[in-house]
Amino acid sequence: MTEHLTVVDHPLVQHKLSIMRDKTTSTASFRQLLREISHLLAYEVTRELPMTNVRIETPMCDMDAPMIEGKKLALVSILRAGNGLLDGILELIPAARVGFIGLYRDEETLQPVEYYNKLPQRMEDRVTIVVDPMLATGNSSAAAIDMVKAAGAKDIRFLCLLAAPEGVARMKEAHPDVPVVTAALDEKLNEKGYIVPGLGDAGDRMFGTA
Ligand code: URA
Repeated sequence: MTEHLTVVDHPLVQHKLSIMRDKTTSTASFRQLLREISHLLAYEVTRELPMTNVRIETPMCDMDAPMIEGKKLALVSILRAGNGLLDGILELIPAARVGFIGLYRDEETLQPVEYYNKLPQRMEDRVTIVVDPMLATGNSSAAAIDMVKAAGAKDIRFLCLLAAPEGVARMKEAHPDVPVVTAALDEKLNEKGYIVPGLGDAGDRMFGTA
């Protein structure tokens, strides 16, 4: 992908996102919409995957049929909200390998601290898509990308639902080689680091823990 930031400005994505933002939307609807939107975002984030032709035989004749080249993709979810996006993407890419990264924020330094890191083998050979619905300060996203790079990943994309300008700038500074795909670029962060207008706490909204 050539652009650092891609906003998926598609009517279906925008319509579903607006319902998700509405605070009266139920947990069940939020989860279902996230699943639906993740299909549409997955379509965009995989648009430029490398392709190769494979010789196959249809019932009619032989042909060179286009298929995705290389090893199975790696999908890496940043816990816990990343799992909502992950589930939908796995429906489209069921053979993908899956990794999980857990980070918490040190309340003194405000920096992300790793508590879980389980990634697929051979990351250096896989296109890697790191998923987290909210790109807010960008600190945990940048730290997660550091971790997948440390495991060898080279061709990495970051997929989120909402991004704040601060998070996009942080990612561009820390990882200019990692394209960011999002459904919307919101206005700003508030003093607590929440995206405005946003949709609130994505994990709480999808798991009903508010
Ligand atoms: N994480 C969330 O869940 N929501 C925000 O607005 C920012 C970070």
